Amino acid sequence: MPTHTGRDVNTTTALDDRPALRHLPADFLWGVATSSYQIEGAVGEDGRTPSIWDTFCRVPGAVVDQENGDVACDHYHRMTDDVAMIAAMGVNTYRFSIAWPRVQPHGRGPANRKGLDFYKRLVDELLGRGVDPWITLYHWDLPQELEDAGGWPHRDTAHRFADYAGLVHDALGDRVRNWTTLNEPWCSAYLGYAEGMHAPGRRDPAAAAAATHHLLLGHGLAAQRLRDRATQPLKVGITLNLSDHLAASDAPADLDALRRADGIANRLYLDPLLRGGYPQDVVEDLRRSGIELPVRDGDLEQIAQPVDVLGVNYYSYNTYASDSSADEGGGYGTGIRTVDRGAERTAMGWEVLPEGLTRLLVRLHREYPGTPLVITENGAAYDDRVADDGGVHDAERVAYFRSHIVAVDEAVARGADVRGYFAWSLMDNFEWAEGYRRRFGLVHVDYATQRRTLKDSALWYSRLVSSFSGSR
Ligand code: FCB
Repeated sequence: MPTHTGRDVNTTTALDDRPALRHLPADFLWGVATSSYQIEGAVGEDGRTPSIWDTFCRVPGAVVDQENGDVACDHYHRMTDDVAMIAAMGVNTYRFSIAWPRVQPHGRGPANRKGLDFYKRLVDELLGRGVDPWITLYHWDLPQELEDAGGWPHRDTAHRFADYAGLVHDALGDRVRNWTTLNEPWCSAYLGYAEGMHAPGRRDPAAAAAATHHLLLGHGLAAQRLRDRATQPLKVGITLNLSDHLAASDAPADLDALRRADGIANRLYLDPLLRGGYPQDVVEDLRRSGIELPVRDGDLEQIAQPVDVLGVNYYSYNTYASDSSADEGGGYGTGIRTVDRGAERTAMGWEVLPEGLTRLLVRLHREYPGTPLVITENGAAYDDRVADDGGVHDAERVAYFRSHIVAVDEAVARGADVRGYFAWSLMDNFEWAEGYRRRFGLVHVDYATQRRTLKDSALWYSRLVSSFSGSR
């Protein structure tokens, strides 16, 4: 295994600082997460065609230092060693995504056998080592040919997505039980089509709203396709990036700023998925800007079929104030400003606010009851360095993970049905528009040599998982 650590774990006090976690269920899942474009590299191999991220990375100024995922962590060629590393960490499950342009290069038509073979080998390696695969079908790498045909604002893309889900299921459905359709559709829709910060880099709020509807429709169609083809009981879900934001004060204008931001970021996705309809106030906000969601008869039923699990990605939360001169972006409309809470920040500039995760999970439990929750991403970027002793002493990340896992335990104590937790990320990787300078990994990656080094946070997490399992 090409990993190393320069220190003796057993002598390190901070690594022993593991929380008690009295409320998590005995069968709680512990995992690590990645996504295809962020780690795989090999973008031109074995029949893969460009995705919208390959194209976007070529746009001058789109990504810091004009970086791209051409090589990334070279996981496509190092998969066996990477799986050995995951297994050695002792986690129960690994969340990864399938690259659509690898397995269905033109976004339609037959599967590419070589592309599917890579994921078959990955699944076999995982199962052989006792790690349960947790598949995400779409983590943002849309085949460029589908974007050229209109992308997510175009209704047909939802149907293409369901066909692609069927192809992946045909290859892996006999061995994979956990299926996530989409990762963070708000990011695909609003960062991709309204803000232009993510691929495909468009700036058209109406396109973002249409993309939202077609992503959700695609989720519903794909979920049904998976269930129709299932030969064993599957758990089908979707992952949303969620936060229980706050208002800066009780003043009506600030409360309205919160309502609007919460509406676009959270309820525009949660309500159709879990309550069968779009939130009326958000529909009216959009209408005031001249935007109509392109809903057709039957769509809402298609979107709202039951999910077995709701994936929650949590990093931080925001506090919103009304400010007529501000434009927070994110599709929230103008007149909203984020208030600095003065909390410690990660290298991304995101405030470290673990109590928001407890609040969020308790809110989901109360407002959208009956759906089991899994934290599908949580983590932090810091400016890690390999120290002279060969280790990576990322005490801040250990503290981040510790406080957020305690926050999950607290939410369970207050009634939330949380079944698992995935650390983002297994290893440092291509952090989208931020390129490689933002390191989220439990494992450090030296991009010049592709050497992997377990950070202290990996050692801490691994010990937490083994002591948790051992104590139940
Ligand atoms: C999430 C993405 C994930 C990663 C983290 C930091 O929004 O799902 O790929 O970039 O943020």
